This record gives sequence, C-alpha cells and structure tokens, in this order.
Amino acid sequence: MPILDVHNLSKIYEGKVSIHALNHIRFAVEKGEFVGIMGPSGSGKTTLLNVIATIDEPTSGEVRINGRDPKSLGRKDKALFRRKELGFVFQHFNLLDTLTVEENIVLPLTLAGVSVKEMEHRLIEVSDRLGISTLLHKRTYEISGGQIQRVAIARAMIHRPALILADEPTGSLDSKTANEVMNLLVEVNEAEGATVLMVTHDAVAASFCHRVIFIKDGRFHSEMYRGTSRAAFFQNIIDMLSLLGGAGHDLPAVRL
Ligand SMILES: Nc1ncnc2c1ncn2[C@@H]1O[C@H](COP(=O)(O)OP(=O)(O)O)[C@@H](O)[C@H]1O
Ligand SMILES: [Mg+2]
Repeated sequence: MPILDVHNLSKIYEGKVSIHALNHIRFAVEKGEFVGIMGPSGSGKTTLLNVIATIDEPTSGEVRINGRDPKSLGRKDKALFRRKELGFVFQHFNLLDTLTVEENIVLPLTLAGVSVKEMEHRLIEVSDRLGISTLLHKRTYEISGGQIQRVAIARAMIHRPALILADEPTGSLDSKTANEVMNLLVEVNEAEGATVLMVTHDAVAASFCHRVIFIKDGRFHSEMYRGTSRAAFFQNIIDMLSLLGGAGHDLPAVRL
C-alpha cells in the first residue's frame, strides 16, 4: 500500500471564470520515496500540496495517506490526523519568532501530548542529526536562513510523520546553503526512512530526488527516475522543464 495515493484529484476554483487548478491528477508515492513535483508557474503545484496537506479541499477525487482519506474525517479528527501523519516544511508556515528554536521544534509533540521525557529524547536526536544543537536556545531572528530551514526540517520530522511535505524548501537560500538543506533532507529520508514530497522550481534541488513528477495545467504530464547520476538527472530535468515551458527563466545554471 502506498503512503500517498492521489486518485483522480480535481480542484476547481469557482469565480467569474472557474479555474481548473487540478484536473484528474493521479499518482502514488511509496514508503521511503523522495519525490519532487515540478511544473510551470500556475500548473497547480501549490494547490496539490495544499490539498494533500488537508489545508484545502478537493472538488472531486481523493487523497489517501497511509490508507485513510482525511476528507472522510471530522474537523477535530482531521486536525489530529494532520498533526500525527504529516510534517510541513512550508515557506509560509513559518517558525514562531516569539518562541525559541527548541520550543518551535517540539511544538508538534506538545500538540500531540507527548511526555516531556520523550520530547527531550527526540529533540536531542533530531537536533544532533541536523547540526543545530547549539542553536536551541536562540530565537528564530537570531539565526541564518539556512539554519531556519534546518529548524523547519527538525520540526517537520520530530513526530516521525508518515509523510513530509515541503514547498520550495530551498526557495530563499543561496546555492551553497540550498545544497546543504537538500543533503539534510536526503539524510532524513535515508536514515529515518521518511517519505518526502517536495515542490520545487529548482532543478538542482529536484536532482536530489529519486523521482520527479512533472505537472502541467493541473494534470500529470510525465515522471522521471534519477538513476545513478545526479548530473545526468539534472540535465534531463532541465530539458523537460524547457519542453514544458514557463519555468526555465529562473533556473540556476550550475550548482552541481
Ligand atoms: N485561492 C485561489 N483562488 C482562485 N484561483 C486560484 C487560487 N489559488 C490558485 N489559483 C489558480 O489555480 C492555478 C494553479 O495555481 P497554483 O496551485 O498556485 O500553481 P503553482 O503553485 O504551480 O504556481 C492558477 O491558475 C492560479 O491562478
Ligand atoms: Mg506555487
């Protein structure tokens, strides 16, 4: 059974002109996979992630996470489901700057009612892995952009969710820091067996994935597996993006 099963998902934004943001899209993600989602601007990537994240509702079709359709749950159960099964590294799901790094990281555990002892244990484990142990008592405005992304990753994984969802996790980072963050996501994926679904417009970031799914006009367009060479995968991704159009202008030329 796949961890994530997106089945015939459609999303129509009703208005003066209705927009078919997602159009019968379907794909599945297996446990332990690291999957990238790419597509031109306006192709439905954020909508897709928001529907999977249960932040937005589909017009039709379904999303199954660990075999369950969150749409079938009531509001309270859905919130619980989201907390337990999902981890977010979203640009607009920011860290709280009134809290310390440590308080931000353990927030999902606090909400889930995990014991203080267990929280401390997992905090040490996760912050060691991500190299942020010395930052725990700082506030988020005292640390760098790359460190903030590490903290966001720590928070996304501390409760060992079934699925980590990332929306442009390297979006605001310089290329060196972006590569560090990608290497960390790979490490989390490999060492913890965490399943990761990442939206990105950055071909270098995407080249770290096992598989990249390309969407266009809200539909599944194609997919590509990495194989052994990241450099070759990167080139194939670039070629596909230029074929798809609309997303090739802001790609970093070299960062391998
Ligand atoms: N809240 C909304 N209301 C109306 N239209 C929307 C809304 N959000 C996105 N759209 C439209 O849906 C389409 C897909 O948008 P989006 O999912 O943001 O694409 P992407 O993230 O790939 O750029 C676009 O045409 C966009 O204008
Ligand atoms: Mg978007």
